[in-house]
Amino acid sequence: MTDPRARHQELVQEIEAHRHAYYAEDAPTVSDAEYDALERELRELEALHPELATPESPTQTVGGTVALGFASVTHRERMMSLDNAFSLEDVEAWLARVEREAGPQPVVCEPKIDGLSISLTYEHGELTRGVTRGDGTTGEDVTANVLTIAGLPRTLAGEHVPALVEVRGEVYLPVAAFEELNARLLEEGKAPYANPRNTAAGSLRQKDAAVTATRPLAVTTYALGALDWGDGAPDPRVGSQHGIYAMLESWGLPVTAHARVVEGVDAVDAYLRELESGRHAMVHEIDGAVLKVDDRAVQGQLGSTSRAPRWAIAYKFPPEEVHTTLEDIRVDVGRTGRVTPYGVMTPVTVAGSTVTYATLHNAHEVARKGVRIGDTVVLRKAGDVIPEIVGPVVAARTGAEREWTMPTACPSCGTELVEQKEGDKDLRCPNAQFCPAQIVDRIAFIGSRGAFDVEVLGEKAAAALAESGVLENEAGLFDLTQDDLRRVPLFVLEKDSKVGV
Ligand code: IVH
Repeated sequence: MTDPRARHQELVQEIEAHRHAYYAEDAPTVSDAEYDALERELRELEALHPELATPESPTQTVGGTVALGFASVTHRERMMSLDNAFSLEDVEAWLARVEREAGPQPVVCEPKIDGLSISLTYEHGELTRGVTRGDGTTGEDVTANVLTIAGLPRTLAGEHVPALVEVRGEVYLPVAAFEELNARLLEEGKAPYANPRNTAAGSLRQKDAAVTATRPLAVTTYALGALDWGDGAPDPRVGSQHGIYAMLESWGLPVTAHARVVEGVDAVDAYLRELESGRHAMVHEIDGAVLKVDDRAVQGQLGSTSRAPRWAIAYKFPPEEVHTTLEDIRVDVGRTGRVTPYGVMTPVTVAGSTVTYATLHNAHEVARKGVRIGDTVVLRKAGDVIPEIVGPVVAARTGAEREWTMPTACPSCGTELVEQKEGDKDLRCPNAQFCPAQIVDRIAFIGSRGAFDVEVLGEKAAAALAESGVLENEAGLFDLTQDDLRRVPLFVLEKDSKVGV
């Protein structure tokens, strides 16, 4: 057993380092899921040893800091983080706690946008300040950058605007804009960005607002901070969370179209499923849902911890992006002779399946992604999409990584590789007639579902047939006898099988 105090210190140091990379550098060193697991371990450790939960512990504080070069601004009202739920049971436990204290409550369900939080101050309807969350008490003054965001009104609409309001929301880069930006960077021979969230954070936290202006950032607003109507009227003038969204919208501020008020765990579950199945059709990335008690009086009654409200919780979807080690890059020679590099990774679960291999398409792609053997890489598998190595985690390099080079000769038959077509990025082994790898792949292809669909003729059987010497190439398949097959190790025990095609 490790000493709990020592483990606590270790976890705190690790978490603080990851927070710095994420919030200050906009360049995370671990995946969100790995980070969440560390925070969870720390929380569990502190539950067993409450004396370790000092006010400085990451379980009691909000992520970011104020980076050098930005003026620091104190929020009029503190900016909170959210506690996480990773399963329906976690959600149920939270709902039960709410119910114990305040009876059954309607809950607003809405998308958890994967961006960075912002506080927007409007004075007499004019946008006067934009500030990042920072440590929750003070953040970075990014007013000049925020003013470049096209969809954000500089002046609030309507007749009833307060003397002062802090509007809280999320700045994000729409997925389409992210893809366009990366395509442009690639064309210019520059390194692409890893994901929309980091691009948005890097774009907003620019020292030069002219750079921010070239990035089509967007905002969704979802909460109020300080609010002074200026006419002595007490807050809350609006009694519900969904009422706040209606008010924000009436001021001309962007709000989500996907918020819904529901009651009971079954309705929450239905919402979560629906949201998850539609997550890739949204304009921005989401990493889960946020559930908020709708009644603001009950919100006040439930209160907050030092870092998060008790009246809200973030439900996190299973991760679609994980980190793993790229153990090797190998090449595969296909049935048409095309030679394709692919990554061999430490097996990792992502979006519900275990992934070990991912194609790297061609040498040009390997160079473009900039991955080296031994790198920690970001692996992404979105829904049903084929797993993709997004790129290396450069900050995690140790110096032991090795550059990979494309072979110039076929790894199967040694023939010099040629371009598929002139000027093509793909390389090909021209030895179509005798290259063993191509022959095996063609034999397997004949057995495959898209061709003759022979159940016992898969890749292993194809290799065994070719290696046993009973046939020279795929044409020989059609002259095979039972006697021939008995000479093939893989078929010895299958005397009566119907391999003869
Ligand atoms: S409400 C007091 N609503 O998630 C409650 N936050 O993990 C404040 N986030 O710091 C947050 N989408 O940056 C809220 N619909 C949403 C959100 C959302 C994304 C972010 C926000 C917060 C973080 C906590």
